[in-house]
Amino acid sequence: MIVNTVADLQKKLDKERAKGHTIGFTPTMGALHDGHGALVKLSMERNDVSVVSIFVNPTQFNEKTDLDSYPRTLKSDEKLLKKLGKVIIFAPSPAEVYPKGLDTNVKVDLGGLDLQMEGAFRPGHFEGVVQVVKRLLDIVNPTQLFMGQKDFQQFSIIQKMIDELEVPTRLVVVPIQRQDDGLAMSSRNVRLLPEDKSRAVVIYKTLKAIKRKKSQLTPKECIKYAMERCDLDGFKPEYFDIADGYTLKSIKSWDKHDYVVCCCAVWAGDVRLIDNMIMKKPRSLKLY
Ligand code: PAF
Repeated sequence: MIVNTVADLQKKLDKERAKGHTIGFTPTMGALHDGHGALVKLSMERNDVSVVSIFVNPTQFNEKTDLDSYPRTLKSDEKLLKKLGKVIIFAPSPAEVYPKGLDTNVKVDLGGLDLQMEGAFRPGHFEGVVQVVKRLLDIVNPTQLFMGQKDFQQFSIIQKMIDELEVPTRLVVVPIQRQDDGLAMSSRNVRLLPEDKSRAVVIYKTLKAIKRKKSQLTPKECIKYAMERCDLDGFKPEYFDIADGYTLKSIKSWDKHDYVVCCCAVWAGDVRLIDNMIMKKPRSLKLY
């Protein structure tokens, strides 16, 4: 079922809440793939009602060309969701999300989580993400929010926002879904040229190699190795960063941190791919 307005969605969800039903929510920008499918499946397993929003949020794009070329595939998105079961698809217009006269800017201390990696290369991106996710949470008011590990910095920032603003929703993070060859599933993969698509597995292989090499190489040496390995004909690594998993600040040595993640962005032709791998984590830390 597709709902286009905030009023219609809230009417439906209020009825469900009145029955004591829990609501799982997966925000997306459409162009759905099995990675999104995993989030929605978990939402359905754990909640009475599942809502999936499909909204290409203009405020999080720092390049107009990126916004214009973002795939919009509502018909096939609907098909994929239908196969999974009963979900409410919320596909609002920009005027529904950002109505005139409503201040949707979010004032929150993100503790610097937004400054490095994606934040450094895509100025204003996370401001837009926080703005839209907060607005969608206000609209849906879900019991649980489902986001993917693939956007490591994004889910870390949203968790921080939830904590700081005491939003009564639990964030559930779902592991990265990969193709058989290891390439992380992404809406952008459809824009890869066939030869780049098969070569893009180098990103996953490099992350795995860093995990193996961390006993012999410093984080700095690992980054140098990764930048060189992914610098192929037509491929350009934008960054590899090895960071503390809590603060997202780059680390200098492996042993001073118990939770470490390696995040990267690599251009494959004109498609920007991001990926990450957890290098180290305390047993007690339950991510998923
Ligand atoms: O990860 C995405 O697809 C987007 O950043 C999100 C969370 C749906 C906000 O527009």
